[in-house]
Amino acid sequence: MLNESVARIDSLQKDNAHYLRRQGQFESNVRSYPRKLPLAIAKAHGAWVTDVEGKTYLDCLAGAGTLALGHNHPDIMASIDYFMSSGLPMHTLDLTTPQKDAFSEKLLSLLPGQGRDYCLQFCGPSGADAVEAALKLAKTFTGRSSIISFSGGYHGMTHGALSVTGNTGPKDAVASLMPGVQFMPYPHEYRCPLGIGGEAGIEALGYYFTQFIEDVESGVSLPAAVILEAVQGEGGVNCAPPQWLRRIREVTQRHGILLIIDEVQAGFGRTGKMFAFEHAGIEPDIIVMSKAVGGGLPLAVLGLKREFDAWQPGAHTGTFRGNQMAMATGLATLNTLQQQDLPAQAERRGAWLKTRLVALQQRYPALGQVRGRGLMLGIEIVDERQSPDRLNSYPGDPTLAVAIQKHCFDHGLLLERGGRQGNVIRLLPPLIIDDEQCALVMERFEQALQSALSQERH
Ligand SMILES: Cc1ncc(COP(=O)(O)O)c(C=O)c1O
Repeated sequence: MLNESVARIDSLQKDNAHYLRRQGQFESNVRSYPRKLPLAIAKAHGAWVTDVEGKTYLDCLAGAGTLALGHNHPDIMASIDYFMSSGLPMHTLDLTTPQKDAFSEKLLSLLPGQGRDYCLQFCGPSGADAVEAALKLAKTFTGRSSIISFSGGYHGMTHGALSVTGNTGPKDAVASLMPGVQFMPYPHEYRCPLGIGGEAGIEALGYYFTQFIEDVESGVSLPAAVILEAVQGEGGVNCAPPQWLRRIREVTQRHGILLIIDEVQAGFGRTGKMFAFEHAGIEPDIIVMSKAVGGGLPLAVLGLKREFDAWQPGAHTGTFRGNQMAMATGLATLNTLQQQDLPAQAERRGAWLKTRLVALQQRYPALGQVRGRGLMLGIEIVDERQSPDRLNSYPGDPTLAVAIQKHCFDHGLLLERGGRQGNVIRLLPPLIIDDEQCALVMERFEQALQSALSQERH
């Protein structure tokens, strides 16, 4: 008997608008991606997505960076097949299984020092819940009440996670977020928040942070934790300069402030190393992991230094901490990442894309800056017809960025925007993207750019 719980691919309506219309009826106004990428997906494989009308797209969004191995990778599908015939339970709260045991051993081995000083905490299966756990643990361990976060940071949409997120848009809509959050400026290659720029700007930001923590008249008590992304994703692909990040590590260590590094998006090879903080050679106190760690299924885990494990039993629970199938697909992902050295491949393909984008920049001055690491790239879209600021940076052009995203969609390229005004075009392809597909990304991007420019700039 056919299983009627799975949508039948041969009986689908070949009409994106049909599904989008029904989605609009079924779902809340809160839906976001379908407004920018108006399709109904019928199939996906590797870096390719096919909509119900049969049109194919190169996926440079990859589940917001989740799909390190792309869609339906054979190793992941094999792990699901094996899991389904193994008799293992799907759901176990936080009870252990041989599956969880094997996954935990592997994940720990990837943490600094092969994880010798770390233990794991399985959280509810979203990045935001793991962020909540990290904040609570830092408060529990230190007995302090405040947190320092950074401008441009993104940590999720639950109350605590949103409180430490920079973007004021979604924050302003919700009264009374978590109190005690202090924001500090994060380095930005194109728009230095201190208006200094270059190495001097980075040095000044590190100096300012140090002074702020050490000045007994800063007006701010020592925080429980500092939370940051080593490469900001949603904030517009801003890389923490290694010397700045090392300074944050030194100062936090000196004052017993826990350093929480959020690797939800940048983690697992995307930036050319297993974790983005490795570019600075530092060891975080708490590492927040989700997205790629589950191989496409929901999973979120903290890696925390054992010395900070101040939890009482059950002090942070969650029904879905025990998603066994996600541990199988996650383990398949971690194994394949390592065996195929996908972080190194991400670095090579990212460098190739970056070089090509920089070359494009010479011909299209609306591409204000190309930045990022590995396969986490951002292109700042600017209005070069306006006057530049004192750092020779042009104002953002969010209207043109929206048009570029739309034309990319029309040309079969799925990507997202980010950054202060949503004016940063972001490339987050799966790490398995090949040379030919990278060339196609560039081809489609340039075509879309030309169409968007002729639409917006006449
Ligand atoms: C760096 C970072 N932290 C946390 C989150 C929140 O993860 P989730 O959407 O799974 O709650 C995200 C999501 O994009 C993220 O990019």
